Amino acid sequence: MSKPESSPLQKICTTLLVLSMAYCGSGLQNYGTGPGFNYVVNVMKMGAVGDGRKDDSQAFLRAWAAVCGANKTAPLLLIPAGRTFLLKPVKFQAWKGDDRQNWLVFENISWLKIDGNGQIDGRGASWWQQESEPEKRPAALTFNKCTNLRLDQLKHINSPRNHITVTGCRKCGHFSSKYYCSWFKSQHRWHRYRPDKECDDCIAIGTESFNFKISHVTCGPGHGISIGSLGANGATARVKNINVSDCSFKGSTNGARIKTWQGGSGFAKEIYFQRIHLDAVANPIIIDQYYCPVNGNCPNQTSTVKVSDVFYNNFEGTSSSEKAIILNCSQSTGCDNLRLTDIFIKSSVHGAGCQSSCLNAQAIVSNSVPAVKCLKRK
Ligand SMILES: *[C@@H]1O[C@H](CO)[C@@H](O)[C@H](O)[C@H]1NC(C)=O
Ligand SMILES: *[C@@H]1O[C@H](CO)[C@@H](O)[C@H](O)[C@H]1NC(C)=O
Ligand SMILES: *[C@@H]1O[C@H](CO)[C@@H](O)[C@H](O)[C@H]1NC(C)=O
Ligand SMILES: *[C@@H]1O[C@H](CO)[C@@H](O)[C@H](O)[C@H]1NC(C)=O
Ligand SMILES: *[C@@H]1O[C@H](CO)[C@@H](O)[C@H](O)[C@H]1NC(C)=O
Repeated sequence: MSKPESSPLQKICTTLLVLSMAYCGSGLQNYGTGPGFNYVVNVMKMGAVGDGRKDDSQAFLRAWAAVCGANKTAPLLLIPAGRTFLLKPVKFQAWKGDDRQNWLVFENISWLKIDGNGQIDGRGASWWQQESEPEKRPAALTFNKCTNLRLDQLKHINSPRNHITVTGCRKCGHFSSKYYCSWFKSQHRWHRYRPDKECDDCIAIGTESFNFKISHVTCGPGHGISIGSLGANGATARVKNINVSDCSFKGSTNGARIKTWQGGSGFAKEIYFQRIHLDAVANPIIIDQYYCPVNGNCPNQTSTVKVSDVFYNNFEGTSSSEKAIILNCSQSTGCDNLRLTDIFIKSSVHGAGCQSSCLNAQAIVSNSVPAVKCLKRK
């Protein structure tokens, strides 16, 4: 993979990555607890080589088709340990597709479980080294319109853009995974590539996401865990009941982030961030309702995605910037019912202090360092 545009091959390294599902597209079964899979499709039996050199994409698609076509209650796609698979952008769905913006896409799938100690290496460095716009780089994994998705114990490194994007996710869970980017070791020292370019969000939660639980996830550097961005190009967004707990961030630009564009509509509400550990995170807590990554040239608009009922509980650690807490809400609707409890964030810079800022935010605060002075409850 020398030139990303001409050769979008990427590498998926896995020691054990097990994909299991009850049915593709119609989730009537539970994944159950024990092994109990009654139909196993091994990618090696479908022609995968796993030597890290031959393109295994077609073998993966064949294996996926066999799993999805299986008239069995608990088929399993087995990606065996100790091999390295080279995959082009692949869409695991009802029919074949090719989408250069995304690498691995799972769409319209219910009861998918991805588990194991596999590592997904997006080999993003060649993208970061180019000047290309971030939106031209592919996200590593995208889950679109999945219900009862469950992700466990994965390790994701060096994604060109987002590690994971989920949209239209209902009753999903994501546990005990690690996301790293850009650290590489030489002469017993860890280095970074291009801190301004590397990776993007660890997990980005998009519209139509309801009842999603994320816990025991480690991120860094990259951009942290984000609800959004929501409401781009006047879109209506709906996000409700998202829990992020027991997560830790190291050297990321954000920790708990909510970002919305101006001009959208809909809501993001009932969002809980709890027991978050921070190590030199630039913006540990941030709501940005003026999200505008392109040139900072977005005119003010009155319509917005309404943000309300966001709970920040038990944050502890350090911020690498002065603005540890930014609650920057829309001038038209503001944010209602934000609650911050037991927040303790110091500066990671010796002798420096941390501050908070509130704009159009109504919050109840108990026990916060730095102090947060927002609007009182109406
Ligand atoms: C699946 O199996 C059931 C019961 O064995 C059968 O009635 C049904 O026709 C099968 N469906 C397909 C698509 O093979
Ligand atoms: C996913 O489901 C939606 C609605 O049921 C449908 O419009 C869309 O074509 C499906 N996409 C794929 C890839 O199956
Ligand atoms: C998130 O946490 C809240 C409060 O603890 C709880 O009411 C809600 O059901 C949880 N939601 C999910 C998806 O786990
Ligand atoms: C909040 O958003 C406004 C509008 O984009 C911007 O001018 C301001 O700098 C932001 N404040 C912070 C603290 O980010
Ligand atoms: C847009 O709104 C924000 C928040 O009220 C304000 O800081 C900023 O100056 C406004 N920008 C323009 C161009 O009116």
